[in-house]
Amino acid sequence: MQFADCIADWQQKHGRHHLPWQNTNDPYKVWLSEIMLQQTQVLTVIPYYERFLAAFPTLQSLAAAPQDSVLTLWAGLGYYARARNLHKCAQTVMQEWQGKFPENPQDIMSLPGIGKSTANAIAAFCFAEKSPIMDGNVKRIFTRFYGIEGQTNKKEIENRLWEQAYKNIEQASDMLDMKAYTQGQMDLGATICTRSKPACTSCPLSNNCFARRENRQAELPTPKTKKTIPVRSVNMLLIQYQNRIFLEQRPQQGIWGGLWSLPEFHTRQELQGLQNRWLQYRPPLKLAAFEHVFTHFRLHIQPWWLQCEQIPLQETAEENSQWLALDRLDTIALPAPILKLLQGMHQVSGAPDLLGT
Ligand code: ADE
Repeated sequence: MQFADCIADWQQKHGRHHLPWQNTNDPYKVWLSEIMLQQTQVLTVIPYYERFLAAFPTLQSLAAAPQDSVLTLWAGLGYYARARNLHKCAQTVMQEWQGKFPENPQDIMSLPGIGKSTANAIAAFCFAEKSPIMDGNVKRIFTRFYGIEGQTNKKEIENRLWEQAYKNIEQASDMLDMKAYTQGQMDLGATICTRSKPACTSCPLSNNCFARRENRQAELPTPKTKKTIPVRSVNMLLIQYQNRIFLEQRPQQGIWGGLWSLPEFHTRQELQGLQNRWLQYRPPLKLAAFEHVFTHFRLHIQPWWLQCEQIPLQETAEENSQWLALDRLDTIALPAPILKLLQGMHQVSGAPDLLGT
């Protein structure tokens, strides 16, 4: 049996069949799952996916929703550009495609936030297109099976992998079940051809696998050179009035775009400005610092706690800011590390348990 038929056959017998985004041809549901599953594990995605579909059961309902509701449902999943693009994409399908999700990979790829592999996956799952995928799982399977050396994020290697992916479909039987083949590559990568300790004895491809034959599973795919990422530092102010905390909505551009977060400062003057605004003359209390890792940098966060005796009147009515009760943290879109910090405050009913030195 050819490579693709072999994987499709294995998927039907041994693959996963009950993930919530399987057993549907609805491109809206498949697209949503594929976007959520980028950079995020299946078990983390499942409850988000179900909540999201309960709130927005159709593409129309998502397109019509305010961005803030979409971000709230995404809060904690990270990589928020995915949620902003998802929303934009739903609106594009409504406006430019008469509400009908396009069916061929080229058209799907023209939508916001959808790359080639995701477009091909949607087309294969929903419309039986013979379009291959190329994600981390597939790269691991291919580099091991074919003995392809070199870092898979390099253009030259990527091109070779894509060529091989198209070739595998051409060489497969006409009967190839694209759903089973596509899902099978994901299932094989997640359950058998894992990064460490692959279960080669259970693998349908093991008889012809280069890495297995040469005992080079641990060396393939070729490890990427780890770049040391820069550190950025920021101070954040926890401004508390009774059981409420002051939050600001972040600008669309930059990290955590559109989410709610704490006011930030970098210099003593900026802090002075914030203190004046809050009519506080006592210095804020320094809390324990922590780090949050992004793709391209690490963020060193130093929180400071400022308790207010009163709220200046003009501050109650501003747009893009709000006083949120600490028992309502789950009602708005907060970045995961900020949510954790505020939950820490809530647990000790108003006094941070994170006092630093
Ligand atoms: N990762 C990306 N797409 C997936 C899918 N359909 N099932 C499981 N994991 C995935």
